[in-house]
Amino acid sequence: MSGGPNVFKRYPRLINLKGLVPEEVIERDIAKKGDIYKKYDVLARHRIPTVNLCEVFPRHLERGRIVLENFLGQWGNISIEELCKISLIVSYFRPETIFEFGTYNGCTTLQMAMNAPNACRVYTLDIRPEEVGGTLFDVGEIGRYLAGKTDAFNFEIGHYFKGTPFELSIIQLWGESAKFDFSTFWEKIDLIFVDAAHTYEYVKSDSENAFRMLRKGGVIIWHDYMQMLHPDVTRYLYEISAQKAIHHIRGTNLALYCDGKGEQ
Ligand SMILES: C[S@@+](CC[C@H](N)C(=O)[O-])C[C@H]1O[C@@H](n2cnc3c(N)ncnc32)[C@H](O)[C@@H]1O
Repeated sequence: MSGGPNVFKRYPRLINLKGLVPEEVIERDIAKKGDIYKKYDVLARHRIPTVNLCEVFPRHLERGRIVLENFLGQWGNISIEELCKISLIVSYFRPETIFEFGTYNGCTTLQMAMNAPNACRVYTLDIRPEEVGGTLFDVGEIGRYLAGKTDAFNFEIGHYFKGTPFELSIIQLWGESAKFDFSTFWEKIDLIFVDAAHTYEYVKSDSENAFRMLRKGGVIIWHDYMQMLHPDVTRYLYEISAQKAIHHIRGTNLALYCDGKGEQ
């Protein structure tokens, strides 16, 4: 991929990084990832169907009612459309247990907890700041840059749900996802949201743990499918879509797996 004076003109979809990450860091990162993105963007479009929620779940799910609060988020959060669609799935699915990889500010954690039954337990995992320098796998140059830029992310992990009534149903877990022991959750989680580190080794490791934790009939949702900045998510999902029925949710960067539905 060729460099140039303004990375955002060539890749308008990266505009949200403006002011947050120096252009030369983005240039270097994109130079390494650009070819993976181009390759798997085409391959995945051919194999992974893009669907409306009503093509995977009953039609009435799309007419459901959801509750959102303090949901505008910031850079690094999922979009409002993605939040609405995840909340609709949670509201329809009525999970007893939810597991989120990547708490961040806790915006999505809060919306999931609000739309789940009162008795639902929402587990959410994030890395301790002091562990960021010693991860098992590479997190990429932009990931390393953002991890060190404390003035941009100077907030408490999970602060969106702290002090809300939903804090009681949210269990915050700490650890590096590639080193974390998930065995107590095996086959116990109804709905899993994968959105922590986005390099191939992490997406693979987190997803494999997600599949082990998934209860029969459960749902896994990934963020950053078809996302230029994180092409390894698309690459991994394309690879497993040869064996597992993965769907892309229209209008979003979300991908979905429903246990027992459309298995090949
Ligand atoms: C994109 S943000 C998550 C956004 C959040 N899920 C949401 O929807 O608003 C990614 C989060 O994953 C965390 N993270 C990155 N690498 C991790 C790792 N190896 N283990 C656990 N958490 C990690 C980061 O600290 C960050 O808070």
